Amino acid sequence: MKILGLETSCDETSAAIVENGTKILSNVVSSSIDLHAQTGGIIPETAAREQLKAIIPVIEQSFRRDGRSSDPIEVAEIDAVAVTTGPGLIGSLLIGVETAKALAYAWQKPLVPINHLKAHLYANWLEEPPTFPSVALLVSGGHTDLILMKGHGKLQWLGGTKDDAAGEAFDKTARLLNLGYPGGPAISKAAQQGDPTAYPLPRPMIGTPDFDFSFSGLKTAVLNLVRQISGEEKLTVQQTNHLAASTQQAIVDVLVAKTVRAAEKYKVRGVLLAGGVAANKLLRETIKERFSGEVKIPPINLCTDNAAIVASCAYFNYQPKPWEKVKADPSLHF
Ligand code: KG4
Ligand code: ZN
Repeated sequence: MKILGLETSCDETSAAIVENGTKILSNVVSSSIDLHAQTGGIIPETAAREQLKAIIPVIEQSFRRDGRSSDPIEVAEIDAVAVTTGPGLIGSLLIGVETAKALAYAWQKPLVPINHLKAHLYANWLEEPPTFPSVALLVSGGHTDLILMKGHGKLQWLGGTKDDAAGEAFDKTARLLNLGYPGGPAISKAAQQGDPTAYPLPRPMIGTPDFDFSFSGLKTAVLNLVRQISGEEKLTVQQTNHLAASTQQAIVDVLVAKTVRAAEKYKVRGVLLAGGVAANKLLRETIKERFSGEVKIPPINLCTDNAAIVASCAYFNYQPKPWEKVKADPSLHF
């Protein structure tokens, strides 16, 4: 079964064709992030306009196997069209959803709506699928959630952030430190030259028995530290690097502690990482060090927004409705 997936929830425009939920035949991602870097964050209207420009060329390329056109995939081979329907920026989402609706109607294929967060989890099913039950840590720019995965369609939300998401904590701290946007990769890079023990930062909610998080206080703690260290002066490069390393360590410590505790409480075999923040090197290394069971971490290009995860999620969760089979047969009329 081949599914065409579309993802346009934020600033990436992506189309992918995935076979049987695991084999990526193509995964084209076009990003407007450079435009947003100029404004220090995403302006939804700008993101939506870029989506509109990119969507058709990106879909065309996905059929030409990422532009390697010698053996293009035929529309007739596609069994369903899957699209991210939310959460996300409404203007951006609309471009993907309307395009998917038009294609599904024109091609007479089933249309599968996909939740963006659930899709992120399926980065772990591309190539070698993990085993159930697992605890998934979903960390993105807008979400921080711990989810018990008992099976496909059998998800139990264990807890999440009370305020800022982990990615937001990276992004806002980076802005405070003048490191640019997106903040996660910028903080990681600066942190490589810094000492994570240089400044004492809080580990919010690390000891609470629930599986919730809070990151907004951390941002305030960094702001207070910046004022204390530099006064009216600019931060030195070394101070910036130390602050980046200390912030990254604080975020990772909390994420890993709660994930490991959830895995132990629910006696799962494995832990999965998902979402843009799962690209963070320290998080990837620390979870492996502190959890003795199976740790599954997707390759970095599948952690951030892309359509292969949408197509994979659709394959494992989509159950064709009886009328979809009828509709797919052009000889039958309603
Ligand atoms: O999942 P994603 O691509 O988009 C959303 O659905 O939000 O995640 C984007 C987030 C941003 O906050 C970005 O700063 C963060 O993921 N991120 C990282 C890294 N790469 C991206 N955070 C920490 N370390 C990274 N290497
Ligand atoms: Zn995302």
